[in-house]
Amino acid sequence: MDVIRVAAAQIKPILGDPEKNRRKIARFLELAHNDDVDLVVFPELSNSGYNFSSTEQAFATSENIPGGKTIKLLERMAHEYSMYVVVGINERDDNALYNSAVLVGPEGYVGKYRKVHLFFNEKDIFKRGNRFYVFDTRIARIGIMICFDWIFPEAARSLALQGAEIIAHPTNLVLPYWQKMAPLRALENRVYIISANRIGIEGDLTFTGRSIIVSPKGEIIAEASRTHEEIIYADIDLRLARNKNVTPKNNVFEDRLPEAYTL
Ligand code: ACM
Repeated sequence: MDVIRVAAAQIKPILGDPEKNRRKIARFLELAHNDDVDLVVFPELSNSGYNFSSTEQAFATSENIPGGKTIKLLERMAHEYSMYVVVGINERDDNALYNSAVLVGPEGYVGKYRKVHLFFNEKDIFKRGNRFYVFDTRIARIGIMICFDWIFPEAARSLALQGAEIIAHPTNLVLPYWQKMAPLRALENRVYIISANRIGIEGDLTFTGRSIIVSPKGEIIAEASRTHEEIIYADIDLRLARNKNVTPKNNVFEDRLPEAYTL
């Protein structure tokens, strides 16, 4: 497909209340469906909330991927609505927790990504993941990174070099930088980025809202408020993300010279 409709659902998950969070996710999936959305992205840790008061609370709000209650809900609704959805999930795997995101489509569970670069106190709760994935779906090649992954340019680069046309980016942002930096990251990789952030306050953390959708030209093509739950939309042309030329003689992939970079 070339032109599809994408969205970011900016919500306020309730810390420690997965049932309420599932009801909210379902409500926003219905809103996306009413607007004929092909892909909708939700924030990081949408099933559980973020700022856990203990490891026990984090475990109590976690679930398996696949198999967990939120994943089952997503499978049912993505099939019924013929839609792809990326949602940040507090994932339990035996005795370990991961800050993960799941991709589900009309065909069912597609895959998951476990956050590689853990932020601040997340290091006390979660194990980190160890690689970035791009999923080849019926609508687009979709790569996933989560929140603080953004500050490592290798994350988006790795996804773009694997062929991502869209980077789905569930976030729980508390620092003020990303919305300024996102256009650069989209431009240098010539990809669409959908950053779905959350709002609200948990303890000493204030989440910053302003979910954004950015084009491969580095333009913010949709932006949410700082303080309200809402859904933002954009019709995007994937041909733009497949064309890596910034001038007729400059291609951001073909002109790379890895042997010149000391990493
Ligand atoms: C973050 O990675 N949640 C800031």
